Amino acid sequence: MHQGRESFGGRFAVIMTLAGSAIGLGNLWRFPYLVGEYGGAAFIIVYILMSFLISLPMFMAESVIGRRSRQNAIGAVHSLAPDSGWALLGYLSVITPMIIVSYYSVVGGWSLNFLLKSFAFEFNKIGPEESLGLFGSFISKPWAPIICLAAFLGLSCTVVALGVKKGIEGFSKVSLPLLFVLVVIIAIYACSMPGAKGGVDFLIKPDFSKLTGRGIASALGQSFYSLSLGMGIVITYSSYVSKKENLAVSSLGTAISDLLFACLAGFAIMPAVFAAGIEPNSGPGLIFQSLPYTFSKMGVGAPWASASAAIFFFMTVLVAAMTSAISLVEVGVAYLVEEKGLRRGTASLCVFGGAFTLGVFASLSTGPIQDLKIFGKPFFDFLDLFCSNFLLLLGGMLAVLFVGWKMKKEDVFDEFTNGGTKAFNRKIFPLVYGVIKYVAPLALAIIFFNNFLGE
Ligand code: PHE
Repeated sequence: MHQGRESFGGRFAVIMTLAGSAIGLGNLWRFPYLVGEYGGAAFIIVYILMSFLISLPMFMAESVIGRRSRQNAIGAVHSLAPDSGWALLGYLSVITPMIIVSYYSVVGGWSLNFLLKSFAFEFNKIGPEESLGLFGSFISKPWAPIICLAAFLGLSCTVVALGVKKGIEGFSKVSLPLLFVLVVIIAIYACSMPGAKGGVDFLIKPDFSKLTGRGIASALGQSFYSLSLGMGIVITYSSYVSKKENLAVSSLGTAISDLLFACLAGFAIMPAVFAAGIEPNSGPGLIFQSLPYTFSKMGVGAPWASASAAIFFFMTVLVAAMTSAISLVEVGVAYLVEEKGLRRGTASLCVFGGAFTLGVFASLSTGPIQDLKIFGKPFFDFLDLFCSNFLLLLGGMLAVLFVGWKMKKEDVFDEFTNGGTKAFNRKIFPLVYGVIKYVAPLALAIIFFNNFLGE
């Protein structure tokens, strides 16, 4: 363990920082769409089951690795299994988030730009065609998206540079409650619009006939992604959790916050999309193309209504993306500080430099260099597919195998139950351990094949 290492200041701080990572673009643009696509409430029920029965134990496994070792992801694996092939888990856990943060920040930059557009009342009088065009013309420009990328990534790295407690914890404790307030306001607003009922029905009408095998596998995949698993984040953040904290409680708190936010996001987004008579789809199109048109419809006769709805909405997107980006940056910074002896500020600058360089190519690939294909895909899409469908799943798989098959069962028990002192944890341990050892690897294989077949 490293001298003078910081810790989070208590349970609330732990849950807010972990939930900050979990709550992100995935909750805003994929969850609501999947719910509608695979049978409304029927999907939500399966999603809840998958989250709590499978993804949550995986989350606990990564937490055990982090808190047991109290080190950055590479140091953690090295200290628990010195000089072994498991080092791959450590390296992957640092490399994957470094790649992800590069293109995730491109989207973060878009949301920053759209927030500025909202302040300028740009969404007040646009039609559906213009709404599509606005986004298309912005992302195909060379400079503006790169400047926004630099600003977004720079802000995220600055928060990380300020420190674990002052920067990350301080930012999360303010921004997470703010996110919930914002999303509730938008949901109330959206559900009260004329024509909103279609969106509410889309989300809640249970239709078990739409809940296919693919739907179930997608629920599993989404809950895995949404809890930020397989990317070294839970390992790194948990290394700052004090030995007194109850890992079962902090993990559960994170999963519940993430789920709640995803559902609220559904009610903020889908009714608005339906009220505007737009086909729901998944991905950036939903929040950057469909919603601006909705905002303009709201503002007929009351321009401030459009502008304030747009401001609240893009503020939510920006903050949600930023708390996730911060967690990605921290994985690399913790590694550089603890293994390479860099100061926090210097380490943050290095991560900024690396991620920005890669991000520039990702950003250009939505416009000026979109014809430059890698395996038939623009660079941005290639990075996303490679990370989400391959690196994350491999990282997640190695993490559960590590805890289930490599670490000693007594050590896992000891860490999970705080030396056997937590009765509830002792009780659920056999179930959690069984899932980590047998069910989780199988679940990850299912997600892999589902994604693979989906391509
Ligand atoms: N849980 C995040 C989300 O739903 C996934 C993620 C975390 C992605 C951190 C990137 C960085 O968006």
